[in-house]
Amino acid sequence: MNFMAKIKIKNLKDHLGEVVELDAWIYNLRSSGKISFWQLRDGSGFTQAIVSADDLSEEKFALSTKATMETSVSIKGKVNKHPKKEEYEISVEDFSFYQISEEYPIAKKEHGIDFLMDNRHLWLRSKRQWAIQKIRNTIINACYDFMRDNDFTKIDAPILTPNAGENTTDLFEVKYFDNKVYLSQTGQLYIEAAIFAHGRVFDFGPTFRAEKSKTRRHLTEFWMMDAEMAFTNLADNLEIQEKLLRSMVSAVLEKNKTELELLERDTKILENITKPFYKITHKEAVRILRENGSDITENEDLGGDDETILTKLYDNPIFITNYPAAIKAFYMKRNSEDSTRAECADLLAPEGYGEIIGGSQREENYDTLKKRIIEFGLKPEDYDWYLDLRKYGSVPHGGFGFGLERIVTWICGLQHIRESIPFARTIYRIKP
Ligand code: 4AD
Ligand code: MG
Repeated sequence: MNFMAKIKIKNLKDHLGEVVELDAWIYNLRSSGKISFWQLRDGSGFTQAIVSADDLSEEKFALSTKATMETSVSIKGKVNKHPKKEEYEISVEDFSFYQISEEYPIAKKEHGIDFLMDNRHLWLRSKRQWAIQKIRNTIINACYDFMRDNDFTKIDAPILTPNAGENTTDLFEVKYFDNKVYLSQTGQLYIEAAIFAHGRVFDFGPTFRAEKSKTRRHLTEFWMMDAEMAFTNLADNLEIQEKLLRSMVSAVLEKNKTELELLERDTKILENITKPFYKITHKEAVRILRENGSDITENEDLGGDDETILTKLYDNPIFITNYPAAIKAFYMKRNSEDSTRAECADLLAPEGYGEIIGGSQREENYDTLKKRIIEFGLKPEDYDWYLDLRKYGSVPHGGFGFGLERIVTWICGLQHIRESIPFARTIYRIKP
């Protein structure tokens, strides 16, 4: 049998001068009489095919003129190198169509964001969206690598939960037979249970928040990685976060040069990631913010605008520690020197991006935790299993959670979080 293994576009350079076969889509094309140029994409990369009447039978060349944007093809041809650039192209000797595409709705002209989001199932094919998802993948893989190398065991937290994991204001309710349950806001409480078996654990999965806000930072469904460690303190916790983020950003800088270029991302700031992160208290952040025009007070959380103002002043991620305890979650331990403050930190990305990680030391004392649950308006009976963890070998422990899309948005330099996830869910969008 005359069998020829098909190759991928990214490997064209290894086949210079050879005749190869490959499968691809024509993402753009132009023709001038007896010659056509097909811009090809196969998922691994991009290239150009030259379809010339001189190299094909009259019949085949006539068929080639039926090609349209997004037509899927199988191609056989010789690999040549661009005379000046590091680019390869194929002189087509034969081809067949899988399907001749109907008129593609996303043509070259500018489209509004609503049109593009309505056509997200097609928009994902564009070079820019391809680059973003490739970078997202590098971040996910780098995260798994880091967690494995640092002895974290992956514990898959449930999605359907009987009680609030973070707060009661943005829960999605789901009918569960005759009861109601909630979609998980965070896996944290469940992975806390697992530290007693495994020491260091993490989860990585979809989380849900019924965010009514329409901002460039919020999704209603997003992917969170929660990490939790036994026998730890906040300083160790922050060190792990810093190393993890550094390893993810470094992986992207190393593996996604083409993608970062496509996105026109200025990588200078990303390269600062090897330097120590900034660390300021919430009180200091408030002072800096007030100097820069914000009316935030010492007992308030940073609003979206505050995060924008503050983080534009920095060229590397910033830890903000010691938030007012009242505006943070019920499970956070209090600071030993000031009980009105939580032993916590948020990590904010620079350049106006804002919060990407939230973390804290957890309250490990049974009585104190029970008191907090009541103070926060929650029912201790809903958290009996969580309180149990403070009865049987309780230990100082803590952890953090990052929002994958927030990290992708910052690393890619996107204007809005909706492009960081394949299919965004927001208050106004659930389709496609
Ligand atoms: O700060 P959050 O609410 O912290 C927690 O859920 C903790 N239980 C995590 C932990 O300690 N294990 O959420 C964590 C991160 C935020 O820093 C942010 O990056 C992201 O999740 N996030 C969102 N991302 C997109 N859309 C939203 N609506 C988000 N809400 C939070
Ligand atoms: Mg937070």
